[in-house]
Amino acid sequence: MKLLTFPSSELASQHAFQMIQNALESGTKVFGLATGGTPEQLYALIRESSLDFSQAISINLDEYYGLSPEHPKSYHYYMKQHLFTAKPFKTSYLPDGQNPNVEEETRRYEAIIEQFPIELQILGIGENGHIGFNEPGTPFDSKTSLVSLTESTIQANQRYFSSKEEVPKQAYSMGIGTIMKAKSIILLAFGENKAEAIKGLMSGEITTDNPSSILNQHPDVTIITDEAAASLL
Ligand code: F6R
Repeated sequence: MKLLTFPSSELASQHAFQMIQNALESGTKVFGLATGGTPEQLYALIRESSLDFSQAISINLDEYYGLSPEHPKSYHYYMKQHLFTAKPFKTSYLPDGQNPNVEEETRRYEAIIEQFPIELQILGIGENGHIGFNEPGTPFDSKTSLVSLTESTIQANQRYFSSKEEVPKQAYSMGIGTIMKAKSIILLAFGENKAEAIKGLMSGEITTDNPSSILNQHPDVTIITDEAAASLL
């Protein structure tokens, strides 16, 4: 695992942008994408760039259960707003948060990832170390599933909704085992509230208490942080 720490999230995002540009220019076709506050600057850099993703495929990590693609807080909507309207991919996949048939939806998503193995996966990290929405305690070999958000994640995500009650309590998420199959991974972490999770990840101890810690076993991971997220190292 490689750790790169930058003085600001802007500079860190610029570095991530460079890595994505290099990957695209050297033929990477399948990108795994994340949502949330962390990749917003990265997506802004991509929007403003001349990069062309029209021959590439994107596969997102997760989607809130119960939200339609048109819901302004859904991850479908987020991706359109932050990336896809400006930079359309050939095909973009996200879990269907409105599919109540969990068995069918999780099988469908795993089949997509099997058909298009992820070459470069972008990850954020939760304050509790979650990756995707795989909360502490999730088995490391988990596949795509319907997961329950912990109280701390609901609280952290409350800032995107008008009240805590509005935050969906469940989401479809790619599993940890699924994420680990990506050929290479870039994990972004910005801000002091991520420092504890990054400390756990960088300690090298692999424990389901910090789901991100399994990344220590992946052959090609780059952790990109600002100084605040690396402040406990
Ligand atoms: C988002 C995702 C989550 C977020 C994490 C951090 O698709 O899978 O793991 O990356 O919750 O969220 P932010 O970036 O909002 O702090």
